[in-house]
Amino acid sequence: MIKKRILVTGGAGFIGSHLCERLLHDGNEVISLDNYFTGDKQNIVYLLDNPYFEAVRHDVTIPYYVEVDEIYNLACPASPIHYQFDAIQTVKTSVIGAINMLGLAKRIKAKILQASTSEVYGDPFVHPQTEDYWGNVNPIGIRSCYDEGKRCAETLFMDYHRMNNVDIKIIRIFNTYGPRMHPHDGRVVSNFIIQALKNEDITIFGDGKQTRSFQYVGDLIEGMLKMMETDSSFVGPVNIGNPHEFTMLELAEKVIELTGSKSKLVFCPLPSDDPKQRKPDISLAKSKLHWEPTVQLQEGLKKTIDYFKGIV
Ligand SMILES: NC(=O)c1ccc[n+]([C@@H]2O[C@H](COP(=O)([O-])OP(=O)(O)OC[C@H]3O[C@@H](n4cnc5c(N)ncnc54)[C@H](O)[C@@H]3O)[C@@H](O)[C@H]2O)c1
Repeated sequence: MIKKRILVTGGAGFIGSHLCERLLHDGNEVISLDNYFTGDKQNIVYLLDNPYFEAVRHDVTIPYYVEVDEIYNLACPASPIHYQFDAIQTVKTSVIGAINMLGLAKRIKAKILQASTSEVYGDPFVHPQTEDYWGNVNPIGIRSCYDEGKRCAETLFMDYHRMNNVDIKIIRIFNTYGPRMHPHDGRVVSNFIIQALKNEDITIFGDGKQTRSFQYVGDLIEGMLKMMETDSSFVGPVNIGNPHEFTMLELAEKVIELTGSKSKLVFCPLPSDDPKQRKPDISLAKSKLHWEPTVQLQEGLKKTIDYFKGIV
């Protein structure tokens, strides 16, 4: 029996494809809406045989009408290389895309979840980051199209909720990795793995002592579903990430160990506005969603390395 009809914007992307797969697996009907800017049909091609799956080529900045029970709004390039490629389009995707999807949710009375980001905290003074921290974001820098676009999308979600009673959910996703990450988007986990598999130098920005926390995509999907299931009194924002911190040096060494690579480490200047530390406080997710990540870095990296072995 079909449970719900669900729209996933950005459904052909890295996270979106895992979400579509899981929602279908749980017996739902799923529509992926994607303009394939950074997504790839290969990410969802194996789902096309499923009669309960539809892939729609559409840009979220243009209104789209469909009857669904739930909307997951993921459409937006997520890596600096891609979101800086056309910064104005990135802002439009976040802001106009949010307006279009919120308008749809309002009209059809659907529940809607926004895939926000830890980037709303900018280069934070509070560590680890709690949801009540307002962040330290440069409004005019090269990352601002993404950071401020996502912040404005959160504002729109809250205003549609306050003014129109739209049933919203906001999650702030921290660094996520796993199979189907874009191989050339310059994100640190995929970069290191590809460089290691090719026995090329591993490029570390800065001194490599800046930390990140990495969450495996399966953990994130679980958190997204749990957030969507909460009743309408809880809207978030809620951090979804793995608080276990690693330095870039530690990550590089772990990747070299797991791939058995002969790669050497080389150091490059830190890009502008690159945050030095980022780590989620997930107390709220633990108490409200009864969620916490379960996949250890070693286990998640192994699965990701296996995926990249098949494509590089
Ligand atoms: N991956 C992470 O670590 C991370 C962290 C924080 C937040 N997020 C958020 O999660 C969401 C998914 O990220 P991802 O890592 O899967 O990135 P991704 O680039 O793989 O996926 C984004 C998808 O959105 C599509 N898209 C972009 N612009 C669009 C538009 N105008 N209309 C329709 N589709 C469009 C792309 O083609 C792609 O399929 C994004 O909103 C991102 O901001 C991701």
